[in-house]
Amino acid sequence: MSPGVRYERRGAVGVITVDNPPVNALSRAVRQGLIDGLMQGLGDEAAKALVVIGAGRTFIAGADIKEFGKPLEPPDLNRVIAGLESAAKPTIAAIHGTALGGGLEVALGCHYRIALASAQVGLPEVKLGILPGAGGTQRLPRLIGAKAALDMITTGDFVRAPKAKELGIVDAIVEGDLLEGALRFAEEAVRSGTSGRRLRERDEKLAELRGNPAFFAEYRAAIKKRARGQESPLRSVDAVEAAVNLPFEQGLKREREIFEELITSTQSRALIHAFFAEREAMNIPDIPAETPVRAVKRAAVIGAGTMGGGIAMNFANAGIPVAVVETAPEALERGLGVVRNNYAATVAKGRLDQAAMDKRMGLITGTLDLAAAVKDADIVVEAVFEEMAIKKELFARLDKLAKRGAVLATNTSSLDVNVIAAQTARPQDVIGTHFFSPANVMRLVEVVRGAKTGKDVVATAMRLGKSLGKVPALVGVCDGFVGNRMLFQYAREAEFLLEEGALPWQIDKALQDWGLAMGPFAMSDMAGNDVSWRIRKQHAATRPNDRRYSHLADQICEMGRYGQKASAGWYRYEKGSRTPLPDPEIERLILAESKRLGLERKPIADDEIVKRTIYALVNEGAKLLEEGIALRPSDIDVIYLAGYGFPAWRGGPMFYADTVGLDKVDADVRRFHETHGYFWRPAPLLERLARDGKRFADLNPGKG
Ligand SMILES: NC(=O)c1ccc[n+]([C@@H]2O[C@H](COP(=O)([O-])OP(=O)(O)OC[C@H]3O[C@@H](n4cnc5c(N)ncnc54)[C@H](O)[C@@H]3O)[C@@H](O)[C@H]2O)c1
Repeated sequence: MSPGVRYERRGAVGVITVDNPPVNALSRAVRQGLIDGLMQGLGDEAAKALVVIGAGRTFIAGADIKEFGKPLEPPDLNRVIAGLESAAKPTIAAIHGTALGGGLEVALGCHYRIALASAQVGLPEVKLGILPGAGGTQRLPRLIGAKAALDMITTGDFVRAPKAKELGIVDAIVEGDLLEGALRFAEEAVRSGTSGRRLRERDEKLAELRGNPAFFAEYRAAIKKRARGQESPLRSVDAVEAAVNLPFEQGLKREREIFEELITSTQSRALIHAFFAEREAMNIPDIPAETPVRAVKRAAVIGAGTMGGGIAMNFANAGIPVAVVETAPEALERGLGVVRNNYAATVAKGRLDQAAMDKRMGLITGTLDLAAAVKDADIVVEAVFEEMAIKKELFARLDKLAKRGAVLATNTSSLDVNVIAAQTARPQDVIGTHFFSPANVMRLVEVVRGAKTGKDVVATAMRLGKSLGKVPALVGVCDGFVGNRMLFQYAREAEFLLEEGALPWQIDKALQDWGLAMGPFAMSDMAGNDVSWRIRKQHAATRPNDRRYSHLADQICEMGRYGQKASAGWYRYEKGSRTPLPDPEIERLILAESKRLGLERKPIADDEIVKRTIYALVNEGAKLLEEGIALRPSDIDVIYLAGYGFPAWRGGPMFYADTVGLDKVDADVRRFHETHGYFWRPAPLLERLARDGKRFADLNPGKG
């Protein structure tokens, strides 16, 4: 028999055990093993029923990611499933951990499904730009109805066993030992037999929506809003509609055709790239994976403002006690109040229970006593005002107060980590952990490696980021690090477009239609327009003429239009609402600015808006790669996907540029350089790759 699956008999029941650690993925060997196990079980006269179960911590958790992007080797999973379904003896899937994707499809091929209450099932293929390609779109609607099946297939969301039982996906919840429960269940299954249990033969649940195109049209319309621009959920509707209207075999064929189209699509390649890029980001070329990391059992956060509170929540959520330090009781009370309200809102939404909230709040202690708070902390994260003088003084004090070996982290978004580190006698322990706002929600954390940061400190920060549930990406020290330095170019370009003829709502809509979660102006209103205004003012003092930009952004701040918090920014807002509304006052302001600059306003096509803004990201990204600030193109993609609302199905800015073709991107960047000025100077790396007919992906170690 193939390694990865074994067959044995327990009493009158044949047990087929998938044992392919860590997650029993459906590798070629497992597919073959399942067929062999089934053959053995069918040939074993003493076995009256067959149980399929996973060894270790889970049932089959899905496809084997090592086989992604390669032509699938036989046997086809459909064959495995057809075998289980047509078996003359009852087949029972016994599920613990997760049954995902092909794993759930195997279970749907069985005549019965039972699960531990802690198990979860799901068809997450849509998240990789494909659909369940082994009958999932045909069998699940037959089991639970088309509507419930569509909800699962088009979101990829997991369903917990009790809910799965309610839906009818599992027949019984097992208490205690799963295999024992399965053996008991098998006896009953032998009595009930296989009749009526083959999903391919059933269609009573489909009748309701048969010949009802309006239902599917409405469902598609809802998806177009929810998953803007993404193909796979829409194509999943096509497949489920085929299940409803066509005989099983034809529906299966239709599913296969759509699967083949999706698996070769750019969107699917982008989503698979995004998946691997996030894993790859954890590998640091000069820091071996086995580098010992420092234990983080206790943390301190300095400053309980916008960022400090959210960062403290991250620690508490991960079960790490954290002291939060402020300078005044009011500031501390306000900061902790925000934390409490955040948790309470999650409880109100039913996503956290009160006991868990109390436990987490119990892990957060507020104090005004810096020395006491940092004395035992394994990591100190500084999140005080963005002013170098304050940070310098604080790090000099931390140097005296923190225990030896503590990691001293700064959450600065624009200051020089090396200067901050130099205030201490232990620059090897100093690092940047750049969380994004709101810090308890946003997944990205840029880990900023200073010139003297120790390798073990880098490894510790990366590992800690992961255990806080974040997506860490390593960056070097420079103005704005990777994400914000690129964003500066992008936002500046968007503002120049205003002077040339566009309006904020046109630009935002063009970029949203392209796939971004939010356009630059709505985003700036949300973050606060005054943040970059203050940074610009600081720069103007130290580096005049260094950066040309549109003065519109200053003008709106001078008018007090700081954004959502002021109910006015690039848009206007009704009191208490976050919905951006076009504002004639802004339109007048922009037209006047164009006039003042002597620019004749002209219409700008959406396509040009996308190129001007997205290529600004790409060109700056290429410069960051040349400078070694970003390690690889895929890291830049990770940063934009996890931190800036970039659509995952575009794969990130660098992957997107590859899909356009770097020769084309380079040609446009040159055109912009000639027309718009020095800041469009093409990155030499972009020019070189374009000339050599290469892609950014050729610089990724895995070439993914
Ligand atoms: N707000 C963002 O979107 C964002 C995003 C990423 C990074 N950052 C960075 O995070 C840091 C904090 O930003 P923020 O937006 O939370 O600022 P904030 O003004 O909301 O909060 C700063 C807090 O620090 C406190 N504080 C000041 N000096 C202190 C000291 N010596 N000891 C203890 N507490 C002190 C203040 O009382 C205030 O409550 C800054 O470096 C900022 O650049 C901010």
